[in-house]
This record gives sequence, structure tokens and C-alpha cells, in this order.
Amino acid sequence: MSSKSLLSFVIYGFFLLSPCNSLKDNADEETRAYFHTLKINSLPSTEVCKESSKALNEGSSSLKLVHRFGPCNPHRTSTAPASSFNEILRRDKLRVDSIIQARRSMNLTSSVEHMKSSVPFYGLSRITASDYIVNVGIGTPKKEMPLIFDTGSGLIWTQCKPCKACYPKVPVFDPTKSASFKGLPCSSKLCQSIRKGCSSPKCTYLTAYVDNSSSTGTLATETISFSHLKYDFKNILIGCSDQVSGESHGQSGIMGLNRSPISFASQTANIYDKLFSYCIPSTPGATGHLTFGGKVPNDVRFSPVSKTAPSSDYDIKMTGISVGGRKPLIDASAFKIASTIDSGAVLTRLPPKAYSALRSVFREMMKGYPLLDQDDFLDTCYDFSNYSTVAIPSISVFFEGGVEMDIDVSGIMLQVPGSKVYCLAFAELDDEVSIFGNFQQKTYTVVFDGAKERIGFAPGGCD
Ligand SMILES: *[C@@H]1O[C@H](CO)[C@@H](O)[C@H](O)[C@H]1NC(C)=O
Ligand SMILES: *[C@@H]1O[C@H](CO)[C@@H](O)[C@H](O)[C@H]1NC(C)=O
Ligand SMILES: *[C@@H]1O[C@H](CO)[C@@H](O)[C@H](O)[C@H]1NC(C)=O
Repeated sequence: MSSKSLLSFVIYGFFLLSPCNSLKDNADEETRAYFHTLKINSLPSTEVCKESSKALNEGSSSLKLVHRFGPCNPHRTSTAPASSFNEILRRDKLRVDSIIQARRSMNLTSSVEHMKSSVPFYGLSRITASDYIVNVGIGTPKKEMPLIFDTGSGLIWTQCKPCKACYPKVPVFDPTKSASFKGLPCSSKLCQSIRKGCSSPKCTYLTAYVDNSSSTGTLATETISFSHLKYDFKNILIGCSDQVSGESHGQSGIMGLNRSPISFASQTANIYDKLFSYCIPSTPGATGHLTFGGKVPNDVRFSPVSKTAPSSDYDIKMTGISVGGRKPLIDASAFKIASTIDSGAVLTRLPPKAYSALRSVFREMMKGYPLLDQDDFLDTCYDFSNYSTVAIPSISVFFEGGVEMDIDVSGIMLQVPGSKVYCLAFAELDDEVSIFGNFQQKTYTVVFDGAKERIGFAPGGCD
């Protein structure tokens, strides 16, 4: 290498390494702005699985979190079909509807009462738009079942033989081959406590979703295990569903983690004290984790779980949003009630005033790029065909307790698959409900501390 090319390499390398610093230093206080560099790529993500190297800490139990269509999913039946984008948006809207419905109905009654009287299991299991699954061992000997992890559902359920209607191509649990499966009779105390009015011999359940799909079956107790753990979890209440309707989307069931007494988090409270955390990876080609118990890392910042809205969801209070590192443009007064933090909804939903403030500053800071003229659900989309990288403004969300979450670059804009069109990944909802979705949670460690009733965030959770 000649000395001239070495010099230019050094200079080039310097600029590559310090784009943020130079931006910061050149801007004065008033106009200081922070941007992320977004790489524009129309190719599907890599077909090689990148494993998270996040080490387990002492006393914790982790499950690998994988994208259902990504190369890390051992049960993958196909890569993402072209229709999956619209399907995800459709399911995401239904998910949001179910959160709104739950909140409205729970406004009438206290949470505990609601859980006890939930017939037929209303709100304890709900449609999910999430693409992320964990593989959980069920039965003795164990059979690995891919389940969507869901902080907005209670019941753990899997599809079961003999099937009246099961999802094709994904594993089906066979209770007759498990020595630890114990069907719950309707007359049992446990069944009566969650399924008041049950009168058939078996403790049946029905979950009906807002999209008219459903899962019906019987309740049972079973052994649950994680592949690397020496111990397992005995007598866990599960749903064994011989009839699922709706589309198959890569999972055999759901692992419910909400605040109700039947969720996996509540049923293992004696071991993990209702403490769990997860990290959703930045791309479908990487793994994240779902971890129970363990030591909370020092850099996690916590916000208290709100008690104003009785619900089995996890609600925390949003207190502001800032764009481009400026002073918060939206303050706490924009949020009348706490926001549901949800693993099963994708896009963050904001009250109309908050959303329009966010959108107008975002558009202003993006005015050098071609904004598409559209009045759609996603209304701030750009055609980046002529770019290989784009500078997008940072977005921070603030929560009660002084928590600032600087959203990862992978969580700001949603790419329309097969194109170079990217849309701001937020949407407007109404004044009574706002939702902090999984897209904005990517790469963070999100800690649910049920015993201390707080939720925390720390960056770099999947590295
Ligand atoms: C909940 O109840 C309060 C007081 O009755 C009411 O002001 C509020 O609009 C209700 N919220 C929802 C989502 O129905
Ligand atoms: C569910 O069924 C009801 C009654 O048949 C119908 O009005 C509604 O539009 C359906 N919902 C969806 C999401 O298909
Ligand atoms: C890309 O650049 C070409 C040539 O300058 C221009 O004609 C075209 O409109 C640009 N496309 C977009 C989406 O900006």
C-alpha cells in the first residue's frame, strides 16, 4: 500500500468512525440534532443465524428468542411470504383492538375480580402480531413446542392431538405419549377458580379472538422444561387445544406471561419471583433471549407499573417523546393514562396530538428525502431508492421514574419488504389507550419485575 493511499484510508476511516461526534460538535446548542445512520438494503436478511452471545447470569434460565421466518428458527417451514407484511399489520391492528376492548371492559371492575370471573377466558389469551417464538419442552419425555411469548396473554397453550383442527406443518403435542399429563376435571378446585360455570367432565376452555379465530380445548397440568436446565417445572397449568382456527403462523401455541395468576411468570413465582426479561433482536437473522430470574444488570432503569388502569396487562406511564435529541416535544400531559407495554403488538400507538407532533418534527428533520404522498395507516413513508445510507433522527421515549429510552436505529422505521420504502414505525390511536410495541423495544433488555411491580430498560440486551 502506498503512503498516499494509506493516508486516505486513515482519513476515510476517521470519518467513518466519528460521524456522530462531528455532527454533535458542529451544531450549536439550539440546533443540536442527533441522527442514526440507516443502511438501505432491499435484499432479504442473511440466511445465516447470528447467535446472541449474551451470557446467562447466575440463577437465571434463558430461552432463545427467534424470528419465526428467520434462519435461527429450527421449526421454520418457509421464509417470509410476500403477504406477511400486510398480514402482520392486520394482526397488529386486531391486537390493538383487543387491548382496547380489555381496557374498556376492565374499567368496570377490579383486576382480581375480573380475572376470577373471566369466562370464557376473556383477555387471558389474545391474538398476537408477534413474530418471535421460544421453544419450550412440554411433557415427559419432553416434546419441544414453538410458542409465541406474549406479555399480553395469560394462558400457556399448545395445539394437541387428536386434532379436530390444528395448524399444519408445526409440531402437535400428543398428551397420550406424556407420563406427566394430567387432565383437569371440571369439578376440581383449580378449574372452578378459573372457569366458573364449567359443567362438563373435563375442564374445557375457549379463547375467542377479535379476528374471529379461536382456540378451544381442555386444561391440564403438565411438566414444562427448558433445554439447558437440570430441573423442570412440574404441574404447570396449560391449555391443550384440539381445535385452533385462524391462520397458521409458525407457532404451535402461546406462552402467556401477563399479570394474571395463570401465566407462566405467576406460576413460577416461587422460583423466579415473577422476574423475567427479554431482548428482541434487531434483525430476523439473529437470536435474542427470554430469561427468567437472575440478577438485574446495574444499568437497567425502572419505571413503576401503573395501578390506575386495572388490567392483567403491564402498563407504565409515558412522560414524553423527543426527536433528534431536542427537548421533549411531547410531555406527560399528552398521555391521559398509562401505556400498555406489549410484546405482541408491533408498532407503538400514541394519542392523536402526540402522534401528530412526533410526525411533524420527524418530517421536518427528514425534509431532504422524498416523502411519499399517502394517507394510509402508515403515513410517513420515504422512497430511499437513490440512497445506500440515510441519516434518520433519533427518537427517545421517556417513562415515569426518569427513564429515557433512545430507540435503536432498527426500531424507528419499518421497511416495506422487497422495496426501499421505509415508514415511520409509529401510529396514532386514541386518547384513552397508548401502546409501546415490540418494534421499538428491539435490542433493549426489557425487565419485567412482577414482585416489585416495575418495568426496566437497558440498551445492548442482545449483543
Ligand atoms: C374509565 O372510567 C373512567 C371513570 O368512569 C372514565 O372517565 C374513562 O373514560 C373510562 N375509560 C375507558 C377506556 O373506558
Ligand atoms: C367477525 O365476525 C363478525 C360477525 O360475523 C363480523 O361482523 C366481523 O366483521 C368479523 N371480524 C373480522 C375481523 O373478520
Ligand atoms: C432517483 O434519482 C433519479 C435521477 O436523479 C430521479 O429521476 C428519481 O426521481 C429519483 N428517485 C427517487 C425515488 O427519489
